[in-house]
Amino acid sequence: MSAVLQGKTVVITAGPTYEDLDPVRFLGNRSSGRMGFAVAQAAADAGADTVLVAGPCQQECPTVTKRIDVRSALQMRDQVMQHIEGCDIFIGCAAVADYRPAEISDKKIKKDGGDLTLRLVQNPDILAEVAALPDRPFTVGFAAETNDIVKHAQRKLRKKNLHMIAANHVGEGRGFDCSDNALLLLYPDGRQHPLPSQAKCSLACRLVDEIAAEYTRLQQLT
Ligand code: PMT
Repeated sequence: MSAVLQGKTVVITAGPTYEDLDPVRFLGNRSSGRMGFAVAQAAADAGADTVLVAGPCQQECPTVTKRIDVRSALQMRDQVMQHIEGCDIFIGCAAVADYRPAEISDKKIKKDGGDLTLRLVQNPDILAEVAALPDRPFTVGFAAETNDIVKHAQRKLRKKNLHMIAANHVGEGRGFDCSDNALLLLYPDGRQHPLPSQAKCSLACRLVDEIAAEYTRLQQLT
């Protein structure tokens, strides 16, 4: 792979977040971290100084400059914000929980014979916060969709004010925790670029090439 990101700093989020309910239970999701770890490896191979902020996952560690392990969305946000200054490119590949329990019980919640209602509160949107920074990096989001992929991804691209979004189908054996994936890249000016199904590691290299090309194109315009 050529050194298309030599001299650049990239921050990447990967994996799920776990939102604790009590000392033994949490709310999580199906992300394995495979896609985000592959993107981190591809960015490092392309010469970038790469910081990986990873939720709980069991993948082999890519050869990045720094890996930071977190558990919850709040921890992931703190670490991203601590490392974002001076960063050239941010890639949000993590499946961040949109909600967390309003309270974490310090003792195991007991079954009392009736139903249990959980109150959830919204987590911060890390990607949107990065994109709203005054000196924001080139900001790339992912969109994990089960249906109407283009419509939902375009909405996230616009609403979060991103430079690019990589949309993928999830569910029914696709996207989460499998070896292959396909992406549809969408840009704010309406361009669409499909990256066909292939191993996540080669897909990540294609994605990093596209990110580097678009980043360079925008730099040349300014
Ligand atoms: O990890 P794998 O098993 O390999 O699976 C890969 C993947 C399917 C998880 C990955 O390809 C992917 O789609 N990642 C994004 C998952 C996701 O949460 O998508 P979303 O459409 O819910 O979120 C949109 C974007 O906002 C994402 O970039 C997400 O990181 C970001 N986000 C979402 C919520 C939040 N509170 N903060 C965020 O930063």
